[in-house]
Amino acid sequence: MGTPTLIEVEDAEQFGAVVADYFSESIQQVSNKPTVVLPTGFTPLPFYKEVVERYQNGESYLNKFKYLALDEYLGLPEGDHRLFASWLSREILSPLSILNEDRIIFDSATSDTEGECARIEKAIEEKGRIDLAIIGLGSNGHIGFNEPGSHQDSKTRKIKLTLETREANSEYWGSLEDVPTHAMTLGIGTLKKAKKTLLMVLGKHKARILKDTLSKPVCVDIPSTYLQNQEHVTIIGDRDAFSEME
Ligand code: F6R
Repeated sequence: MGTPTLIEVEDAEQFGAVVADYFSESIQQVSNKPTVVLPTGFTPLPFYKEVVERYQNGESYLNKFKYLALDEYLGLPEGDHRLFASWLSREILSPLSILNEDRIIFDSATSDTEGECARIEKAIEEKGRIDLAIIGLGSNGHIGFNEPGSHQDSKTRKIKLTLETREANSEYWGSLEDVPTHAMTLGIGTLKKAKKTLLMVLGKHKARILKDTLSKPVCVDIPSTYLQNQEHVTIIGDRDAFSEME
């Protein structure tokens, strides 16, 4: 069992810089191209902005990694702006010139979700490891789209999104109707293969679930509690996010 390293920052700008420092040190520690899981959402945006700026200012090693998608909506056509693959491409992957061959992504339009999820698991197995999993935290404790009820040893699979998650995601796209009902996600068991994990948390609305993540018994109702038993976990959050911790 590992004890997470907690890092509290002042604001979004400092958050971006501190997460970028952690990312940059982590990828430089791995000699052959590390596999890195990156999330979508609002939380990582200051970090992506900072990494892109550093890259453009000459820190060319910042694109020496292979991107592994954390999750993806199911049933969106190629090119749809809501695709997480498109979102990540806009915010970080294209600005860093990450080649398509270095992007392990889900096919949202697949008619064979089982086969598609097995393909992702196989890609991870072939690589042999996930070097770094950078993840966000849902207000209901979801990690990726592992909604409450997800087993600690769950594999990559199709998930029905909860109404709470769809409502939270409607902030991205404007309305609930614009949020797909299903998704594919790396499983908790899959994420446990990560050698290092970074959980990013911003805002008062995440304070309660962050506290529960670290203090409630490990359980399927709060998928994020798996982090209590995971080695090499770092949590970077702002003062608001840490405000309910004693
Ligand atoms: C995103 C993802 C989700 C988000 C979480 C927090 O790929 O898998 O678990 O990390 O819902 O989202 P934000 O950052 O928008 O609060």
